[in-house]
Amino acid sequence: MPSLNDIRSTFLDFFVRNGHRQVASSPLVPRNDPTLMFANSGMVQFKNLFTGLETRDYVRATTAQKCVRAGGKHNDLDNVGYTARHHTFFEMLGNFSFGDYFKSDAIPFAWELLTRDFAIPKDKLLVTVYHTDDEAADLWKKVAGLPDERIIRIASDDNFWRMGPTGPCGPCTEIFYDHGDHIFGGPPGSADEDGDRFIEIWNLVFMQNEQHADGTMTPLPKQSIDTGMGLERIGALLQGKHDNYDTDLMRSLIEASAHATSSDPDGPGKVHHRVIADHLRSTSFLIADGVMPSNEGRGYVLRRIMRRAMRHAHMLGAQDPVMHKLVPALVRQMGTAYPELGRAQASIEETLRSEETRFRQTLDRGLKLLADEVARLPEGGALPGAAAFKLYDTYGFPLDLTQDALREQGRSVDTAGFDSAMAEQKAKARAAWTGTGESKDAAIWFALADTHGATEFLGYDTEVAEGEVLALIDGADQIEAAALGAKVQIVVNQTPFYAESGGQVGDQGLIKTETGSARVTDTRRMQGVVVHDAEVTLGEIRRGQGATLSVDHDRRSAIRANHSATHLLNEALRGHLGAHVSQKGSLNAEDRLRFDFSHTKAVSPDELSVIEAEVNALIRQNEAVETRVMSPDDARALGAQAQFGEKYGDEVRVVSMGRAAGSARGTDGETYSIELCGGTHVSRTGDIGAFVILGDSASSAGVRRIEALTGETALAHLRSSGQRLGEIAGLLKTPTVDVVERVRALADERKALANEVASLKRQLAMGGGGAEDAPKDIGGIRLIARRVEGVSGRELAPLVDELKQRLGSGAVLILSEAGGKAAVAAGVTPDLTDRLSAVDLVRTAAEALGGKGGGGRPEMAQGGAPSLEAADAAIGAVEALIAG
Ligand code: ALA
Repeated sequence: MPSLNDIRSTFLDFFVRNGHRQVASSPLVPRNDPTLMFANSGMVQFKNLFTGLETRDYVRATTAQKCVRAGGKHNDLDNVGYTARHHTFFEMLGNFSFGDYFKSDAIPFAWELLTRDFAIPKDKLLVTVYHTDDEAADLWKKVAGLPDERIIRIASDDNFWRMGPTGPCGPCTEIFYDHGDHIFGGPPGSADEDGDRFIEIWNLVFMQNEQHADGTMTPLPKQSIDTGMGLERIGALLQGKHDNYDTDLMRSLIEASAHATSSDPDGPGKVHHRVIADHLRSTSFLIADGVMPSNEGRGYVLRRIMRRAMRHAHMLGAQDPVMHKLVPALVRQMGTAYPELGRAQASIEETLRSEETRFRQTLDRGLKLLADEVARLPEGGALPGAAAFKLYDTYGFPLDLTQDALREQGRSVDTAGFDSAMAEQKAKARAAWTGTGESKDAAIWFALADTHGATEFLGYDTEVAEGEVLALIDGADQIEAAALGAKVQIVVNQTPFYAESGGQVGDQGLIKTETGSARVTDTRRMQGVVVHDAEVTLGEIRRGQGATLSVDHDRRSAIRANHSATHLLNEALRGHLGAHVSQKGSLNAEDRLRFDFSHTKAVSPDELSVIEAEVNALIRQNEAVETRVMSPDDARALGAQAQFGEKYGDEVRVVSMGRAAGSARGTDGETYSIELCGGTHVSRTGDIGAFVILGDSASSAGVRRIEALTGETALAHLRSSGQRLGEIAGLLKTPTVDVVERVRALADERKALANEVASLKRQLAMGGGGAEDAPKDIGGIRLIARRVEGVSGRELAPLVDELKQRLGSGAVLILSEAGGKAAVAAGVTPDLTDRLSAVDLVRTAAEALGGKGGGGRPEMAQGGAPSLEAADAAIGAVEALIAG
């Protein structure tokens, strides 16, 4: 009996043999579709190949595509576990032609694979065709030899396939398997078609039209083929089962669930095991593709599925978290076909364990409340909406979990009541917010958040994604279109642009639609809504359009490097300066990083260089940077550093990087840096490239600030520093290694020269001891009057002192000129100060020189003058003063 893995390979091999390129499944979160929550069929990743927007180096492809139908248009969640063929996760096998072959090849391929490779008896098969598609009907007759009664014409949309309200579409032909008359049901198109006897196994779509938003349909440039076969269905058929959950793959997961809960896989808990097996697949694959549990959007769909499974595990009597224990069984089954599953195994297990641990804390109390509420209801009565809302709001019960719990008792929930309780709560939040008196303009973001919910951020995994333009805002008004040159705010349903937060600056980039493009200059988050500040640079942007959003890659890479380096720096500072170091703020821009932290004294150059070297060593380790989501308690238990000023919700994102010295990779407690952080990071530390600290400075009392560079910017800085050093060495005519010694020697030399000059000047001022130096006796008072050059006013006082000493008793007058400035200084020995004041001498001289003022004490005074032109007159005036 072929396993599901065998069947998948047989399918893919068949089409590879027939000239098809085997293409890997695209991620569950579509990158190229603005409206789709999850990939829900094989053609999603090829959408633009059908419409001709994109071409690749192949025209035939085959895939096994991961699909999730649990949110949005196709939602199978409610039925899973209770029916034979509903899944939240399934695999779609498909073959595709992009303008290459059409119906006349697609039908023979399908027939050959089913009847030869899969060896399905021909008489068990029948087909439907679109009622006007004679060509397909003729081909079935010719190729398969099917009689007319087994080629059923269907007039309804069942045989006209559309991927959604817009996009490529066309008539299709569906192949059915007849499980035999022991099972109830009629052929397609009959009154009993919903029975289980005739099961659709393969849908071949003849892509030939494109459906537009305005309701029109145009022919595609080329006719193409898109087919889809559910692996679980064909698997059941080929394994002789009627129920998809009886296939080898699903059975092994059911048995793992039975084992982990010590219960009988086929006993009274059968439904629980089926739910768990299905939900294990969807949750694990979603986590592997980067979806994290949250209270919004895709993350909330994931949470709903997880919690639903967790309730079923609880019903099986499990006392501890169960789901994470089943992941190895899933990886064993599907890890070869989907290697991403194995790569993400640790993160899947941790996310499941953490969610289940936390949910269990409220599950019991919630179920008790539910039981109490139900006890008060009349037979078969619906649960009031208010009770369902309380379960949602207080106990974390998604609505569908409550519905699922009541389904077993044949009860429903008053969903209208639930919705109005939800609306009431939102209105209260809004009223509370309006009360805070924030700007009126901001009301628009609240309104948008109410209408559209929070914007989904895709930027952890991709820098390019498609979104739908939900709103264009000009000032405080919503507008329908933004014309060339307009500066507007653009809101989309999902975006790869990072909104400024936690010190990381907002992204820049481009938003393009069919009719124009806009340059995004900044990205912010307001009330959960991501706001792209943009300027229309081409054509116009209209509300409702699909848009391609591309983040400026180089800029984002530089920001990422700076952000990751900040984490390493934080840890290095704690390691070298002490555990008191805590983050007080940070900036992660494209050109630099800035980190403020508590520390009371300057970080010494030696400490800075050790820290810088350590961060660079971590960069060279080139270890993967890991991101996980967990409860704040679990994060604390891991020893995660929390960031300054951030508020944390139910779950936190934990970013780990690097290996602590001497530890093996992945050893618990040996990770170098663990921080709570919502930012974007490099995938390996080596991507940071290089790390250079510019310096440490005081930021505020008790807070230091380090600025640093990474990557190309760090290298450019080193390069220009090196160049400057080279220039200096050139000027000094010395090798660069000797520059410091040479500069130190020059500085010493300069100091020595300065001393020498000063002493020479003094000598000059004191004169050589010749006849002109002899003091002049004026009425019994000896006066030395001297004119000097090149000695500044500041240097005069010691000269006056020295001359006074030489005189023993007398007066001194020095007139000096240096650097275009004239100065006067005078001194009188203490024995004469009762008769003569130096201040008078200075003032007299200054006045004679054309100046004014001067001051000091009777023994010593100084003043300024415009010039020494009248030096002789000045000396004369002083002599006259002394002479009385
Ligand atoms: N895209 C087609 C389907 O999903 C094949 O059924």
